[in-house]
Amino acid sequence: MSLLPDVDRILLGPGPSMTAPRVMRAMASPTLSHLDPLFIRLLDDIRARLGRVFRAAEGSFAFAVSGTGTSGMETVVANLVQPGTQAVVVVSGYFGDRLAQMCERYGATVTRLDVEWGRACDPDALRRLLATVKADVVGIVHAETSTGVLNPIEALAAVAREHGALVLVDAVTSLGGHPLDVGAWGIDACYSCTQKCLGAPSGLAPVVFGPRALEKRVKCRSFYLDLHLLEDYWLRRKYHHTMSSVLVYALDEALAIIEEEGLEARWTRHERNHHLFLEGLHACHLGVLPPEGERLWTLNAVRVPQAIDEALVRKQLLEEFNIEIGAGLGPLAGQIWRVGLMGASSSPRLVVLLLGALERALASQKRTLHA
Ligand SMILES: Cc1ncc(COP(=O)(O)O)c(C=O)c1O
Repeated sequence: MSLLPDVDRILLGPGPSMTAPRVMRAMASPTLSHLDPLFIRLLDDIRARLGRVFRAAEGSFAFAVSGTGTSGMETVVANLVQPGTQAVVVVSGYFGDRLAQMCERYGATVTRLDVEWGRACDPDALRRLLATVKADVVGIVHAETSTGVLNPIEALAAVAREHGALVLVDAVTSLGGHPLDVGAWGIDACYSCTQKCLGAPSGLAPVVFGPRALEKRVKCRSFYLDLHLLEDYWLRRKYHHTMSSVLVYALDEALAIIEEEGLEARWTRHERNHHLFLEGLHACHLGVLPPEGERLWTLNAVRVPQAIDEALVRKQLLEEFNIEIGAGLGPLAGQIWRVGLMGASSSPRLVVLLLGALERALASQKRTLHA
């Protein structure tokens, strides 16, 4: 008996998102070894394409770490934080907290700038904190997947830079879906993942180190994530680890699709489908957690109405309609659904499908309540 799935799940949760058919086909290409000249050509292509998707500054090093988004986070932290580093981390949700924990594990003295879950960080709050606390690095999550909030990275990065700190940014739920300009915004190191707005399966973490970060790197305690060793592999073709050819094919094809669509056109598509979804929610008397102006286009934190069993709705969507949406995390468990409209999952067809299914799931619970 095969346990392989024989269904095409409609993935509208916080990730992974749907994988485009072209990317699926790319993964059926023959296996290459990690040092094959054809493979090296693909790695060079990925470096160039990632540099453009991140909009990295001249002299940056953009590449992909073998691992999920968390490995991107750990690569940035492991190479820029060491015992004695003073780190300020904006914590406006679950992933800001993970970043703070990561910095602590690598020996930093961490000052958290706690922000109410569901709200964006005010750059003035960071300015006030940095007037009293020294920071070698400032860590910020651009798109907080746990709350559906977009942090104003450009303004926050400018404040951090005014105080001489390196700026580390989590773009796991924004790269390829929201405007992000690593070079122009003065971001020193940034990481993402393949399974959200880029539209490939999970397993690689695109990362970029800008010139200042490359210069200020610390002695890395991790072998697997050591930037010097990764540069040896990506730039000087020295064996470090056996990179997955399947995932490399997928990422290269996903990046080619992005360039064909156009990065800005892709951001606009994400914006449009978010608004289409909001309109539909409004018609069903549903709303989202973050206030206007602080909302992600890629991840919608939908408030669960009173007296509705939120887990039952998710179960019904999955079993009857083959649609996956996500639950709330941490203090927001039970209070929100997380609806991802990312990459190939950001389409009017899927928005309309989800709205119809959601309406039916809610109606069936209300009928049971009134029976
Ligand atoms: C903002 C953010 N950072 C980091 C991660 C960790 O990524 P992964 O689960 O791919 O390791 C996630 C995952 O959803 C995320 O949303």
